[in-house]
Amino acid sequence: MIARSAHQRSAYAVTLHPQCIGEHVIPFNRPSFHGNERLYMEQAITNGSISGNGEFTRKAEAALSEMHDGAAVLLTTSCTHALEMSARLLDLQPDDEVIVPSYTFVSSASAFMWNGARPVFANSRADTLNIDPADVAGLITPRTKAICIVHYAGVGADPREFAELAERHGIALIEDNAHGLGGTFEGQLLGTFGAMSTLSFHETKNITCGEGGALVINDPALVERAEILREKGTNRARFLRGQVDKYTWVDIGSSWVMSDMLAAILAAQLEGFDEIQERRLALWNRYHQGLADWASEANVLLPCIPVEAAHTAHMFHLRLASLERRDAFIQHMQERGVQTVFHYQALHESPVGLSLDQAHACQVASDASHTLVRLPLFYDLSALDQQIIIDAVTAFK
Ligand SMILES: Cc1ncc(COP(=O)(O)O)c(C=O)c1O
Repeated sequence: MIARSAHQRSAYAVTLHPQCIGEHVIPFNRPSFHGNERLYMEQAITNGSISGNGEFTRKAEAALSEMHDGAAVLLTTSCTHALEMSARLLDLQPDDEVIVPSYTFVSSASAFMWNGARPVFANSRADTLNIDPADVAGLITPRTKAICIVHYAGVGADPREFAELAERHGIALIEDNAHGLGGTFEGQLLGTFGAMSTLSFHETKNITCGEGGALVINDPALVERAEILREKGTNRARFLRGQVDKYTWVDIGSSWVMSDMLAAILAAQLEGFDEIQERRLALWNRYHQGLADWASEANVLLPCIPVEAAHTAHMFHLRLASLERRDAFIQHMQERGVQTVFHYQALHESPVGLSLDQAHACQVASDASHTLVRLPLFYDLSALDQQIIIDAVTAFK
């Protein structure tokens, strides 16, 4: 093992196995910075404007809009808040249902509950772990108002099939695209299939500003109300554009505007986006090549990428044969100085999920919560560290 600097040690010591303290430890994630982050933050300070809707908000929104074929993009304080905005824009009523994957982050379901609807949990496909279209088709009822799909690990979740299903039933399609910025399915960008899609810029995402998100609005009819909801229910955005001479309270919204200080970091990260994606993809491919033989011998599943999908290398995961094997693997890696983590716990089995009393089984989601583990994958992961990880993984028998 290689000695680490004192600074690196102190940053990660809390997560370490006692054997590793003082040794080289490879973290699961580390945010990376690409050039102009500090400069733009200083400029935001110099501009004297660090609340929302400033120069860097406009810059980042324009860059994201260009990446989404010109759709309106509103930066928000998080992906969770962007999902809450999308739910509010659907005008959900207490008996309404929104179909969501069980295997996802809490926010993909809670955002709709927060707005009065009932989440209905769908199972995942066994290969990609994305929400299963066949399962969703069987869950649609007259109460269904929307389907929220998640492009898990940045791999497209059959978005065309879901868009057609939603259209056939006259319901909305929302894409929780927290992992999938820049990914495509059948050549079309993820996030452009549904009426709305949401992005996350949390520290663990491919590009980050610490905490942040965005609402991408593909249906032009929703844009004006979205601007109002984000600004505490006021028409302040119209006022700032000189379209009204004063602004006032016109709807029930909240405070979902990102600070220009964070938008400054995000604008710089967006400039480095192509380079970040290229590097992450190279790391992802190296894992795939380096682990393929071991995985087939050890009865471990590597990520599956359908031919229609160009993925974003958001994560590299393994699926082991059982919960016991997965926990033993995490322990094995920890003892070798590599931090690996499990991911979502199936929502239908959570305390809130159970309280909804849904009889529908989501077996693939349950299995994934027990068997999946994620390897370190971040821009600054060195070739040497990645080799250490691959060697540690393949030593697990
Ligand atoms: C699929 C998915 N949706 C939403 C979120 C929430 O993102 P945020 O932390 O930006 O609210 C996450 C968080 O990782 C996620 O994985």
